Amino acid sequence: MSMKFKFAGAALVAVLGLGAMLGAAAPAAGQMDHMSMMSHAPDTRKLLDFPAPMREHMLSNMRGHLQALNEILAALSIGDVAKAGKIAETRLGVESPGAAACVPNSGTTDHSTHDMAAMMAKFMPEDMRALGLTMHESASEFAREAAKSQTGGDLKPALAALARVTQSCAACHAEYRLK
Ligand code: HEC
Repeated sequence: MSMKFKFAGAALVAVLGLGAMLGAAAPAAGQMDHMSMMSHAPDTRKLLDFPAPMREHMLSNMRGHLQALNEILAALSIGDVAKAGKIAETRLGVESPGAAACVPNSGTTDHSTHDMAAMMAKFMPEDMRALGLTMHESASEFAREAAKSQTGGDLKPALAALARVTQSCAACHAEYRLK
């Protein structure tokens, strides 16, 4: 693995982690007790109690999301915009299997995906699904903009869409955690 790729990965983790840190509400100075000053700021994220198979499924999806993002950045770093767009479309976009739980009435024909998506849709708070949907839509938008930039367009709109993808990752991480 080259330094460049390692750097992209480290930068991503930093971006996502920082988002989560910024998202955690900072307590007013007066509210800070001795314990919280000694340990971490209180974790104010909403705690979700998902059934074990769903939790596993979701976290595995999440690791796939990060992997996909990493591969997108790696492709961009070598100028392979077409590949970056393809990864976004197939692994993060609204039509990707992992999006089924967040996309209303996604007409997935795969039964196991469909059943899990139905379960996820039942347990996920509406606001969380909305954040998920925004992430998947931004990934699809990145793919469209990447395709445009292929035919001589500017790459900036694609990068802006990609930034909205990571922004959605960070926003949801700041808001929710799993039991
Ligand atoms: C709709 C909400 C939501 C979105 C959007 C989201 N995540 Fe997550 N993700 C979560 C939650 C909740 C957890 C569990 C966090 C916890 O319990 O502390 C998580 C956990 C993870 C984990 C840890 C997986 C593990 O095995 O523990 C990774 C990596 C991750 N997300 C990456 C991403 C990336 C990359 C994106 C954006 C492309 C993303 N997530 C978008 C909600 C979301």
